[in-house]
Amino acid sequence: MKRRTLLKGAAALGASLLFSRKSASASTADSRIEVLLGEPVGTISPAIYGHFTEMLGAVVYDGIWVGEGSKIPNAGGLRKAVLDKLRQIKAPMIRWPGGCFADSYDWADGIGAPAKRLERAAFWRGEPNTFGTPEFMRFCRLTGAEPYFAANVRSLSALAFDRWIEYCNAPADKSSLGRMRSEDGSHEPYNVKYWGIGNEAWGCGGNLSPAEYSEEFRKFTAWTPGYGGPLKFIAVGPNSDDLDWTEQFCRATFAGKRAIHPKSVFGWSIHHYTWNLSRGKTHDWDAAKGDALQFDVQDWYEVFREGGKVENIMLSNWDVLGQFDPDHNIKLVVDEYGTWYKPGTEVDRSHSLEQQITLRDALLTAQTLDIFNRHAEKMGIGACAQLINCLNSLFLSHEDKFIVTPNFFVFDMYQAHQGATAVRAEFSAPQVSYQRDNQASTFWGLNGSASFTSKTLTVTVVNPHATEAREAEIALRGGSASSVEATVLTNSDIHAHNTFDRPDSVALLSQKVPGSGSSIRYAFAPASVTKLSMTLG
Ligand code: AHR
Repeated sequence: MKRRTLLKGAAALGASLLFSRKSASASTADSRIEVLLGEPVGTISPAIYGHFTEMLGAVVYDGIWVGEGSKIPNAGGLRKAVLDKLRQIKAPMIRWPGGCFADSYDWADGIGAPAKRLERAAFWRGEPNTFGTPEFMRFCRLTGAEPYFAANVRSLSALAFDRWIEYCNAPADKSSLGRMRSEDGSHEPYNVKYWGIGNEAWGCGGNLSPAEYSEEFRKFTAWTPGYGGPLKFIAVGPNSDDLDWTEQFCRATFAGKRAIHPKSVFGWSIHHYTWNLSRGKTHDWDAAKGDALQFDVQDWYEVFREGGKVENIMLSNWDVLGQFDPDHNIKLVVDEYGTWYKPGTEVDRSHSLEQQITLRDALLTAQTLDIFNRHAEKMGIGACAQLINCLNSLFLSHEDKFIVTPNFFVFDMYQAHQGATAVRAEFSAPQVSYQRDNQASTFWGLNGSASFTSKTLTVTVVNPHATEAREAEIALRGGSASSVEATVLTNSDIHAHNTFDRPDSVALLSQKVPGSGSSIRYAFAPASVTKLSMTLG
């Protein structure tokens, strides 16, 4: 099925779905998805649908934070549009304040009366500290998200870390720091549970060796004040696929005479950015990057190839962790992922690391979330980097302008998986064949994930083919559907993206799918992310 007969922009999507319906009855399926309802993988923790907000560029200032006196609609200085959209997608968790920024940040600069806070020339930019712990906690409370803090290991002490926990979690009548929090607006303790012990300790977080980091980790996590609830610590994992870091950290921490129990570690942080689009020609950080908007079909598939590597990184880390923690107490925390292109597509020059987000990035994001779902039993937290005005963002804003990117729609669709039971799903489809630097190359034809609650089965599917639809039979083993609805994100142009002038170029379309029972036919549009919601019974 050639794409040229289909789709002329988002408006033509309805036609595409009609086409799907017609072809479903007329032609033979070339693809098959088997959903094995009797083979649960695990519960999908809502926290894997989390976000990352660093004090960097315009993520906070001009993004989340517009200031209390602003004419831009806000709730106590927080941009209302961001709050509304995060509630819409049920954002479960937000990581803050970094990133690399975390290891240069003194949390004590960001509390107390805002007018009296010190201004710093911080890691990425000047930091006015108008937005600190009280503001971030208000952001979490107004969005319904759980906070996940990253502590400064490189340049603050374990005592300073204890004090931050005290400020956040101590009762107001039992500690001066608890009282200060109360004066900052919250008499009730924040009860922050998730604490990252540094960030990228092998790089901006201190250039430490795994053994050195293990020592810091022990110091920072031993005898920390709990104030009523156990804390969940996240240890810094490797730089991409550097398993040596994982093994050496585990040996230094969990083996030998002074081993600590893996139960005291909640998660193992993995960062994987899709940045090297050079097709193996270079590993130079600048030269290897592609462009967010100017790309050809090879670059389109290259993003999915590079992004897909996260699955192997997750599995190989899981194996090494298992050698020291056979019960797998330690879960995977993929708390920075997404595309990272060269500069040039920022909506404003002051927005460092900002880039435009196209349909290509949405497919990459969906591919990543499907990987997380398929390994639900291994995953503790996921955090897309970064929420707004940055790398793989869901939103772009400048002053009073605000838009959602195609990534937002992926999170909107995929929220149905949160808290559901992931089940095994087998995808078979003709492979994509294309020329990669004049060499015949292939890529998987359809992939995705499936989960169910008592009433609904959700199957999310990525069709990466730039020009061809995939006609599939979806076989439900151990269940049947009484009705099916499809929600689709696609466009006739693989470069499609939203702008302040054209905020709705990429949008979702939902339509009822004919058919019921244990075998459903559906044609997945080219270059698409699809959610099939099936009412069970
Ligand atoms: O997300 C931007 C940066 O990328 C973060 O600060 C750092 O953790 C990573 O290297």
